[in-house]
This record gives sequence, structure tokens and C-alpha cells, in this order.
Amino acid sequence: MRFPFLFATRGCRAVYRLHQKQFLSPVPPLWKHRSSAAVSTQLCKDDRSYYITTPIFYVNASPHLGHLYSAVLADCLHRYKLLQGFNSKFATGTDEHGLKIQQAAEAAGKDPLTFCTGVSKQFRHLFSSCNISYTDYIRTTEQRHREAVEHFWSVLWNKGLIYKGSYEGWYSTQDESFLMPSQVGDALDSLGQEIKVSLESGHKVEWMKEENYMFRLSAFQSQLLDWLKGNPQAVQPERFHQAVLKWLHEDLPDLSVSRQRSRLQWGIPVPGDDEQTIYVWLDALVNYLTVAGYPDKHNQWWHVARHVIGKDILKFHAIYWPAFLLGAGLPLPKVIHVHSHWTVGGKKMSKSLGNVVDPLERSQMFTADGMRYFLLRQGVPDSDCDYTDDKVAKLLNAELADSLGGLLNRCTAPALNPAQVYPSFCPQSFPRAHGGRAVREDYHMLDAVKKLPAVVEKHYETMHIYKALEAISACVRLTNRFVQRHTPWKMDRKNSEDERWVDTIIHISLECLRMYGTLLQPIVPETSNKLLSRLGVQPHERSWAALNFLARYQGMDCPFEGRALGSDSGVLFSRLEPHNADKQKPKKTKKSAN
Ligand code: MSP
Repeated sequence: MRFPFLFATRGCRAVYRLHQKQFLSPVPPLWKHRSSAAVSTQLCKDDRSYYITTPIFYVNASPHLGHLYSAVLADCLHRYKLLQGFNSKFATGTDEHGLKIQQAAEAAGKDPLTFCTGVSKQFRHLFSSCNISYTDYIRTTEQRHREAVEHFWSVLWNKGLIYKGSYEGWYSTQDESFLMPSQVGDALDSLGQEIKVSLESGHKVEWMKEENYMFRLSAFQSQLLDWLKGNPQAVQPERFHQAVLKWLHEDLPDLSVSRQRSRLQWGIPVPGDDEQTIYVWLDALVNYLTVAGYPDKHNQWWHVARHVIGKDILKFHAIYWPAFLLGAGLPLPKVIHVHSHWTVGGKKMSKSLGNVVDPLERSQMFTADGMRYFLLRQGVPDSDCDYTDDKVAKLLNAELADSLGGLLNRCTAPALNPAQVYPSFCPQSFPRAHGGRAVREDYHMLDAVKKLPAVVEKHYETMHIYKALEAISACVRLTNRFVQRHTPWKMDRKNSEDERWVDTIIHISLECLRMYGTLLQPIVPETSNKLLSRLGVQPHERSWAALNFLARYQGMDCPFEGRALGSDSGVLFSRLEPHNADKQKPKKTKKSAN
């Protein structure tokens, strides 16, 4: 069975190489083979499974901007893989057990399950409002999850990796985390009283001493080091990979994996010992397996699992989780994609500071696509970013409304495109060598757009989405300049030479727009759909394999040439008023922009 798979993979690579070929010469080679991309998709199909997850979200409070960020990143990777013809599974959900949730339900005067159901619904509502296209939504209070956790526990127990012991040390309920003395510092609470806090999260910690079950984490130190050293891509970006290596060179004590039932009732009991409740992080991490079909049918998905997580939960995912998996004899995640945090006014978002950004409200204010674009364009995985409404409005106005929207508007406006078609490319009008009117900058633009899919692919693969968007945005600017440079509105359509040249300019510009619309689908699905529909690009023509830029220039047929444009459904993206974004109703976009 391995041979056909290898063959198929080679087929794909060949296509990408073709896509990267440059427009160096004004006279292009006449490629003989038609649509090799389509052939390759055929070959690659079915061999490729992809499984991407978000962290499951605590339901102690309503969703905030950081939660949406984790979800939008994973959604983008999922949509991108679907475009490439992968069979992709995308899981998200809610983390509903543990002391923190138990206390939040008590404070709300509700029974825990009713409380969890209410907040879990809020997450679902946010996700559907923001087009988070998950294929599986898991709640840790579901029966299928309880069965997976019980099975997982029994496997570890039967292998002698869990033993009864006692834990004495610091615990942060807010982080649901055990801490070493070196991770704890002094602080004052809101009443001015001295407390101990986690140096990393700033959350209060308490001393606890309990009989409970311990996992032999220390036994996995060298295997974990080997895994990370042998898989430099396992934790990305690099700085987080290094952070995990550093932790692994320190002391790695065994881990408490249960709490006394008298203290924690809201959780899954330890199989065979009703006096103990399974530690919420072990319970939560297993969700990734539950969704994959563990314990019976997880193989298809489990060997291709990738986790998107925030930097605050790196230790749980890059140390505890791989150690549990090694213990259970299961493959380790292929990649752990780590992202940094959003701050507001330079400060961590927190209820007490009153600076928590409500993502649902913002997605109503700026549209779902607007928030998705902002988070992915501005969010840098390696470092924290600061959020302001003003920044959102300015960015969306500049890049979606003016630059991209303006370009589409120009090239489809009846004044310039009276026939409302994807006009013809004239092979004699463009190339300089044939007496055409192209200038050096035009070749530079064509070259940049031709290479764009490979550039975007590279950045999507490593979850550096902002770099992909930077590249797309730079190309949109180049295309706007291309149109500006040749001023097609000054040409006389009654002159047939001029007409052919105007049509060629518009053809090239629409081809550029088709590339941008296709590549932006994982980021702004609604806007991309609007753009591609206006160009008359059909749903089956929007895949990665269809990204064959400017076929006519390469001597091939262009399926879009001569085709009627789709109907005009209004401006692509409405402008917002930067200084008063929250009170402003959307306005019409500028007619044109650069
Ligand atoms: N329940 C655990 C995860 C268990 S996964 C087996 C948890 N939940 S959480 O609700 O606190 O956080 C979920 C995600 O939101 C994490 O990836 C976290 O990093 C992310 N964010 C929380 N605050 C954030 C910001 N301020 N900015 C960006 N993301 C942040 O941890």
C-alpha cells in the first residue's frame, strides 16, 4: 500500500514546482500539458487526512477575544487544508470539569451541568457567528468522553504508570495547575493582604496536602527530550520549542493526577476508587482522543493530530500530554502550534481591570470577516499583540474596503467593463517582445502574484498567517498600481487596439483578484465568496489546484475568459469610521484606492 501513496505525493510536488515558475521572460514558454494541477489533485485525494484542534474552553466565564483567536487560527488551518483537497477534521469544545467550574457554578447558584450547558452554548453561538467551521464540538461532560477517559486511565494504570501517593505543594485553582516552589512568588490581594501567586500567570496559589494518585512523569524525561530533539517542528514557533527543552532540562517530578472527591466532586471519578476524582487536565487533554474515536476507531485521525494552543498552556500540551500518550503507547501530536496573547491597553485582559473584549459584540461591530481578518493579520504567534477598536477599523478600511474592495470595484464597474465579462487577454497587446505595452513593473507584479500561492502555503503551514496576509496585501497594492499606471479609463474603446489593451489590463487584474479571493477563503470566507461570485468563479473552481494564474499568458486556455461576471451584490467590504468605530454604521466604500 505504500507505493501508490509515494507516487501520489510526488505528483503533488511536481505541480507546486510548476506553480512557482517565474515570469522572467516577456515571451513565456508555451506549456503543452493542460491543467496538470487537476490531475495531481486526483492522485493526491484520499491519502491525506488532517486533524486540527483548538484547546477546549473553560466554561467558568463567557468567551473573550483570546478564545476567538485560538478558534480562528485553527479554523483557518482547517479551511486551508480543505482547499488543498485534504480530508480534514476540526475539533473544538468546552472544558467543563474541575474545581474552577465547580466554584463558578456555586457562585452562580446553579447546578454544575446546567451552568456548563449555558456557557457552552455561548461558545457555540460565538463560533457560529464567526464562521468557525468545526466538524466536532466536544463537551467533557459527555458520556463518550467519560468512557474515553476511563479507558485511558485504565491503560496507564495497567502499565503501572499510576500509583497511589500523596501530594504536598502549591496549587492554582484558576490555572488548575500544580506548581514548584520556584514558580511561586509573593503578592498583595485587592484587600492589601499578602498572598502567594503563580509567577507565570499571576493567579493566587494555595498550599495543599492530599492523598492522591500520581503519574510517573519523571520516567518520561529522556523520551520527551528525544522526541523534541528528533522533531524540531514538533512545537512551533521555535522559541516555544526552546522553552519546552529548557523545562525538560530541569527537575521533572511525578504529577498528581487526581483530587480527593471531598474537595472536588465535579469531575470523572477514578475508575475503581470513588474517593478520588481525575485531575481536570488529564480529563481535558483526552478530549482530543475522544473526538478521534478513542478507544476503538482513532487510528485514521490520531497519527495526524495537530493542536493549536495559547502559550499559557504549553507545559500541559508539550510535556504532560506527550508523556501520557507515550505511557499509553499512542503516537504523539505531529505539531503543537503555539500562539501568543492579546493584551488590551498593554495589559492582560481581566475582569478586575474591566478590559475584557467581548468577541461577539466586536464581530457584530466589525463583521465576522472583519474580526477574523484583524486577528489573523495582526496576531503574531511569537509575541503578544495589543488590541484597540481603532486599529481594527483602520486596518479593515485600508486593506479590505479600500485596497481589495477598490480594486474589485474598479475592474468590474460598468464604466470600465461595460460588457460585464471576464474580458479576453490579448497575447499581442501585453508582451513587450510582441510590441505590447507592458513595462518592467508589470512583469514584477505578475511574478509576485505567480509566486504568491507558494508563499502563502509556506506561511499557512507554519501558522504564520500574518505573513501570508502581508504577502497578499502587498500583491493587492501592486495590482492597484498596475491599473493606476495604465489608466485604462483614459483609453478609447472605439479604437480596437486600445480596446484589446483595456481588456488585457482588466483580464490580468481579474486574474489577480481571483488569486486573492481564492487564497483568502480561509481568512474571510464571506468576503472571498462575494468576490469570487462577482468574478463568476464557480464553487468547484475555488480550490488550491485551481490557482493557475494567468493561463493565457502561458499559452493555455483560460476557462474564465469571455465568461459573464456574477451579479453585483454591492461593495465588497463597507468602510468604518476609525475614531468612532463603535458608534458607526457601515458606510459605502470608496470608488477606488491604491
Ligand atoms: N481548558 C483549558 C484548555 C484545555 S485543552 C485540553 C484552557 N482553557 S481557556 O479557556 O482558559 O483557554 C483557552 C485558550 O484561549 C487557550 O489557548 C488560551 O491560550 C487562549 N487564551 C486565553 N487568553 C488569551 C489571550 N488573552 N489572548 C490569546 N489567547 C488567549 O486553558
